[in-house]
Amino acid sequence: MSGRRKVTVVGAGNVGATCAQELARRDYADVVLVDIKENLPQGKALDMNQAAAVLGYEPGIVGSNGYGETAGSEVVVITAGLPRSPGMSRDDLVTTNERIVRSVTEAAMAESPDAILLVVSNPLDAMCHVARSASSWPKERVFGMAGILDTARFSAFIAWQTGTSVKDVTAMVLGGHGDQMVPVVSATTVGGVPLRRLVADEAIEAMVERTRKGGGEIVNLLGTSAWYAPAAAAAQMVDAIVLDEKRLLPCTAYLEGEYGIEGLYMGVPVKLGAAGIEEIVELDLSEAEQEAMRASAEAVRDVVSVLSGS
Ligand code: LAC
Repeated sequence: MSGRRKVTVVGAGNVGATCAQELARRDYADVVLVDIKENLPQGKALDMNQAAAVLGYEPGIVGSNGYGETAGSEVVVITAGLPRSPGMSRDDLVTTNERIVRSVTEAAMAESPDAILLVVSNPLDAMCHVARSASSWPKERVFGMAGILDTARFSAFIAWQTGTSVKDVTAMVLGGHGDQMVPVVSATTVGGVPLRRLVADEAIEAMVERTRKGGGEIVNLLGTSAWYAPAAAAAQMVDAIVLDEKRLLPCTAYLEGEYGIEGLYMGVPVKLGAAGIEEIVELDLSEAEQEAMRASAEAVRDVVSVLSGS
């Protein structure tokens, strides 16, 4: 490997492998792709290294079944775990993925004690709790990706509805990564114009509903979870950390009183930089949005209560 910085992606399934290539194309870090499945990470890494000759990226991608190669990673992206299959909610995965995320966290932190842990595995909010409890690392360095993905879905629907470039849509989806997530319509604009001025309430409600069920819509089409948007969203968070961008992004952060929520991982706007979550930003939510955040928090607590904690 070169003297470049290093980012590890655990899980060489659709999300992990796509994320690894997204990251390699950034040209700022070598990427280690880890999976327990024999030959899978090695094969995908070899393919990506060969794609580099065409696409012109330089970092090396290493595939491994162990964690030795991951030593000294700046960020560890955890995508390991079972994906959803049709009819399964994100929460159905909780017991199996708790075990997987706990063991991955322990193995990764032993090699990279100063890393930032970025959790992508579902059920997302609960798996952030697992990574935090397995690592005992400060909350600034253990957090999850969900809000960027959920916001991307809402933004795509708004762009279609308004016939506008998705680049000009500014949206914000907060709360847990489940059907109770909270698209914050009051903070959503198209080219600076509030969404409510552009789109009728019923159409907004339909987009909100489709966003809440956005993951399931794809599971129903494909028989497994989405990966292009989730991988792109995780890579955007890695960018913010590795390049110390200080981006304001919706991420799953540990709340200690913010938004009136205590001791729970939930999606909120944060400032993301080299230190990880450098600040939690508190928006002025409407009464209805505050109530929706509380309901979402209850839904997350229900899942977290299923964790064995061992
Ligand atoms: C989704 C799954 C990955 O939202 O949670 O697509």
